[in-house]
Amino acid sequence: MKKVLVINGPNLNLLGVREKSVYGSETLLDIAKEVNIVSGELGLETDFIQTNHEGEIIDKLHAARGVYEVIVINAGAYTHYSIAIRDAIKGIEIPTIEIHLSNIHSREEFRHTSVIAPVCVGQICGFGKMSYILALHAAANI
Ligand code: DQA
Repeated sequence: MKKVLVINGPNLNLLGVREKSVYGSETLLDIAKEVNIVSGELGLETDFIQTNHEGEIIDKLHAARGVYEVIVINAGAYTHYSIAIRDAIKGIEIPTIEIHLSNIHSREEFRHTSVIAPVCVGQICGFGKMSYILALHAAANI
């Protein structure tokens, strides 16, 4: 079974409470449950984690070597400036899919830049929870 690690970065633990008009009313647990169901349907074995700490994201990426075949990452605000996360993604050489709930390109200008995009296979954004589901379909096919 293909193993996939879904990493959620800072503030995503507040989904369902935080800026509902942007991120919707579903919680991260709601998303995790659906990710689990769809993973089963696609024949993937998926682990789903969240952390608010940049270094922990980097540690999880390093530890993914030899364990996971695909990474799906919503790096939250780190997307826009964490060269350290970008370097970790580049360094581990595991195909990585960048995702966002919102369409970062239609929001504030500082969100238009993703420093991780150039080291990812592709980016999926703007589909809410469906961004995660679309990423699983992509993971099953890369
Ligand atoms: C986000 C978009 C980021 O700009 C923001 O900082 C987040 C969430 C998204 O899923 O839409 O925390 O990654």
